[in-house]
Amino acid sequence: MTEQRHRTVLITGASAGLGESIALACANRGWRLALGARRVDRVEDVARRAREAGAEVYAGPLDVGNEDSVERFFSESEAVLGVADVIVNNAGLSKPGLLHERDTAGIRLEVETNLLGVLFVTRRGVASLVENEKRGDVVFMGSDAATNPRPGQATYSATKGALEILSTSLSRELEGTGVRIVKLRLGPAMSEFAADWDLSPDAVETRTEFFRRFGLRDARHYGNVMPAEEVAEALIFAVTRPPGVVMDTIDLYPEAPMGNAIKGLR
Ligand SMILES: NC(=O)c1ccc[n+]([C@@H]2O[C@H](COP(=O)([O-])OP(=O)(O)OC[C@H]3O[C@@H](n4cnc5c(N)ncnc54)[C@H](OP(=O)(O)O)[C@@H]3O)[C@@H](O)[C@H]2O)c1
Repeated sequence: MTEQRHRTVLITGASAGLGESIALACANRGWRLALGARRVDRVEDVARRAREAGAEVYAGPLDVGNEDSVERFFSESEAVLGVADVIVNNAGLSKPGLLHERDTAGIRLEVETNLLGVLFVTRRGVASLVENEKRGDVVFMGSDAATNPRPGQATYSATKGALEILSTSLSRELEGTGVRIVKLRLGPAMSEFAADWDLSPDAVETRTEFFRRFGLRDARHYGNVMPAEEVAEALIFAVTRPPGVVMDTIDLYPEAPMGNAIKGLR
């Protein structure tokens, strides 16, 4: 119980979307927060609101794909708050498009953010926990793109698929250390994730039809999304399980709207 009241949560990509929501939900529980992202003004704004809710917060610049930036963020936040015992690998992005039409920079950015960044952040966070013999939770923000790999999101699906393997590998590697690995496998949730996608009705319809052909349910199509707060609640539930219990995976999807039943069968 004491441990749950005094968690120190490090969140990557805390400037928007799910990271912002997780930060505010943790702040409302009085947990300490280390918040990082590339857009410092946005992360400072989240920090201000978390402080207003009563949380002690360190906020700073973080680019998860850059190992120097990761090291700086961890050492500065540890100097203020101590070792984080919840590491939320939240930073991530996706740009839809066929692989053979994408440029190198776009592919590289997705892999560096969604996979390499998770490796850098997890390595640094786990090193502190193990060295200090502290219990802790490392959270991966996975996606249903890992279990239903998507056409038009091949790179994204591959990075999220890799997290599935990474989480299993790591949980075995860390047996007996008290460090637990938790993965959230999410369907669409409210955030800024698709803010720079082509959202014209034609583009959405084409993408929806594309997804449907490959067996994704209607409830997972663009347009049906979960509140970000529900993702935060699920995460908090997982990391507050008592010692001796591991919540390995949480699958969380939007429910289909009422009245969609017949349409969904067509
Ligand atoms: N929303 C969904 O439907 C959904 C579904 C499945 C999985 N997910 C996963 O949930 C996570 C959060 O996504 P979201 O939906 O909240 O998207 P979002 O609203 O676009 O937020 C993404 C966050 O990642 C940060 N970020 C991107 N690149 C970064 C980098 N190199 N270093 C540090 N931070 C970086 C962004 O901040 P800056 O730009 O300021 O750096 C932003 O705060 C992602 O891993 C995503 O794959 C989301």
